[in-house]
Amino acid sequence: MKALVLAGGRGTRLRPITHTSAKQLVPVANKPVLFYGLESIRDAGITDVGIVVSDPREMLEPDRRSGQPLTVMVNSQAEIRAAVGDGAAFGLRVTYIEQSAPLGLAHAVKIAQPWIRDEPFVMYLGDNLIKNGITRFVREFERESPDAQILLAHVKTPSDFGVAELAGERVVRLEEKPKRPKSDLALVGVYLFDASIFEAVNAIRPSARGELEITDAIQHLISSGRNVRSHVIEGWWKDTGKLEDLLEANRIVLSDLASDVRGTVDAATQVEGAVRIDAGATVERSRLRGPLVIGAGAHVADAYVGQFTALGEGVRIVHAEIEHSIVLERSRLEHVPHRIESSLIGRDVVVTASDARPRAHRLMIGDSSRVELA
Ligand code: DAU
Repeated sequence: MKALVLAGGRGTRLRPITHTSAKQLVPVANKPVLFYGLESIRDAGITDVGIVVSDPREMLEPDRRSGQPLTVMVNSQAEIRAAVGDGAAFGLRVTYIEQSAPLGLAHAVKIAQPWIRDEPFVMYLGDNLIKNGITRFVREFERESPDAQILLAHVKTPSDFGVAELAGERVVRLEEKPKRPKSDLALVGVYLFDASIFEAVNAIRPSARGELEITDAIQHLISSGRNVRSHVIEGWWKDTGKLEDLLEANRIVLSDLASDVRGTVDAATQVEGAVRIDAGATVERSRLRGPLVIGAGAHVADAYVGQFTALGEGVRIVHAEIEHSIVLERSRLEHVPHRIESSLIGRDVVVTASDARPRAHRLMIGDSSRVELA
C-alpha cells in the first residue's frame, strides 16, 4: 500500500498567508498541518509516500470581490520539499510528484499513476486533519478490499464539500459542492483506492470550476457498478483551508496538550492550565491561561496569553493580550491597546501602538488581508 498526499493547490481562502507560503505548512499547535497527515500515514504502517506539489509559479487570477487580476503564488514546492525532505525524519520514503498546475484532485491521481502503478493507495489531502489517524480505515480497506473506500462526516455546511447521498450504507450519488445538498454527509479528504480509479480519472471531464474532480471519478466508479464503501467517522475532522476551521483545529489539538515547560517563566507570572513553553522562550510578569504553546526563543512580557493560542518561534508579545489565535514566527505584538482574538498572524508581522499625531491607524497590509478594528 502506498500513500499519495496532495500538497499542491492554491490556498486562496487563507490569503494573504498563502501568497508566500503553502497552506499545508500553516501550523496547528506549532506543527505544520501536513505533518499530522504524514504521521498518521506512518502510524498506519505505510512508508512509501508520494507528495504532489505544484510548480512555484505566479498565476494571475481574478480577485473574488473586485474581479481585478491578482498575482497569486501557486504553492511553493521548495518550501514543502525543505520541510519534509526525503521523509526519513518521519520514518517515510518520500517521492515528489510535480503537478504543472492545480487542475484538480483527480488530475493529481492521474499524474501520479506512473509512481503508484497498480498498488492500492490511500489519498490524503494535505490540509486535512483527522483525530485518531487513519489506521482503522486502512485496515478495513485491506480486509474488505473494495474498489474504493470513502470517509464521510456530518457537517453544518455541506455545500462547502463533496456531498454523499446514501441508501442505507450504500453510496448512491456524490456531488462536489452542491448548491442544494442532498445530505449533511461531507467527503473527508482521505480516500482509499485500488487501480480501478485510474480508469475513472481518465474517463471524466473537467467540472464547471475547470478541475478534474475526484468526486466525479468516484461517482464514475459507482455508476460502473464498482464496489465503493463508505464509513461515517465519529471523531473530529477538519479541512483547515479556511481561517475559522484552522483556528478550530488549533483549539481541538491544544485541548489535549500536556504541560511541558523548558523555557523560563519568572515568579511574577501566573500560569493556569496546560502550557508548553519551548526551550529558549522567556515569560515575564504575565498571565498565561492554557492550553497554549509558546515556541522556542519567543518572548512574552507584561502580557496575557489566553486559551488556545499558539505562538511560533521568536514571537514577541509585550504589553499585549491575545487569545484563541495563531501567530507565526518572529512576529511582534507590542503595546497593543485591545485584546487580539480569533486571529491568524503571519511571519515577521509588527502590530504596535504609536503616540504619533494625528491619532490614526497606520497600516501596511498585504493583498487579501482582513483587519477588524474594535
Ligand atoms: O476537505 C475535503 C474536501 O476536499 C472534499 O469534501 C471535497 O470533495 C474535495 O474536492 C476537496 O475540496 P477542497 O475544495 O477543499 O479541495 P482543495 O482545492 O482545498 O484541495 C485539497 C488539497 O489538495 C489541498 O491540500 C490542495 C491539494 N491540491 C488541490 C488541487 C485542486 C493539489 O495538490 N492539486 C490540485 O490540483
